[in-house]
Amino acid sequence: MAITLNNGFKMPIIGLGVWRMEGQLIKDLILNSIKIGYRHFDCAGVGTTDSALGEDGVLDIDTTISLETTWHAMEGLVSSGLVRSIGISNYDIFLTRDCLAYSKIKPAVNQIETHPYFQRESLVKFCQKHGICVTAHTPLGGAAANTEWFGTVSCLDDQVLKGLAEKYKKTAAQIALRWGIQRKTVIIPKTSKLERLKENFQVFDFELSKEDIELITNMDKKYRTNQPAKFWGIDLYA
Ligand SMILES: NC(=O)c1ccc[n+]([C@@H]2O[C@H](COP(=O)([O-])OP(=O)(O)OC[C@H]3O[C@@H](n4cnc5c(N)ncnc54)[C@H](OP(=O)(O)O)[C@@H]3O)[C@@H](O)[C@H]2O)c1
Repeated sequence: MAITLNNGFKMPIIGLGVWRMEGQLIKDLILNSIKIGYRHFDCAGVGTTDSALGEDGVLDIDTTISLETTWHAMEGLVSSGLVRSIGISNYDIFLTRDCLAYSKIKPAVNQIETHPYFQRESLVKFCQKHGICVTAHTPLGGAAANTEWFGTVSCLDDQVLKGLAEKYKKTAAQIALRWGIQRKTVIIPKTSKLERLKENFQVFDFELSKEDIELITNMDKKYRTNQPAKFWGIDLYA
């Protein structure tokens, strides 16, 4: 199953996220996922990132390059045939609006955190209205990993998802992913386990009813679970 991007290219609705994966495990995992049918891989976080802090402990980034300049450089990659589609990530409505204003090539995708506890309906609808596909990163709310890493709770433990899982004879993860698909977002759940690779892919053989979608809509806690910048020692939202 694929979604057609605003430039006519297609992108699979489900992808595999590999952030927080052990380097050696990734190879086998990707080979197994290809056998299952995955054709979309999100490689964010593969490799190392140096600290973004200067010696004074303050965020040390180049302040002479704007996002617009970066975007035009990315457009250059499309013009020279090096990439087909370009997108943005973790852009809120204002950054997205700005990008729409200065771009010659519109972003094909905005990859943002969204799941039943952090639905971001305004941003999702805004992007979709302007032809930008929303890819949901952290579509399971990070499950147990975020409890461990960030001390947050996971939507997979919520009674609503558990109840729907029982009703549809699926797992809470499959319900969360199916909900993501039905709101027309692309989903990139991460797992390091073969069984879950299969489980997360088996979300095309059932459909949540309107009433059940409504139940999930009411679960929203506006609860951001994920702050990758914390690994570089900064809190982007402070
Ligand atoms: N653009 C960005 O800033 C950004 C930020 C964060 C993430 N991402 C991308 O989004 C991907 C997914 O995000 P994420 O890894 O943070 O969160 P996630 O996919 O919501 O959750 C991953 C966690 O869920 C567990 N899990 C996977 N399938 C499960 C299932 N069926 N039942 C129960 N638990 C399950 C995984 O454990 P096991 O591995 O043990 O199965 C892992 O602990 C990342 O890998 C990355 O590619 C992008």
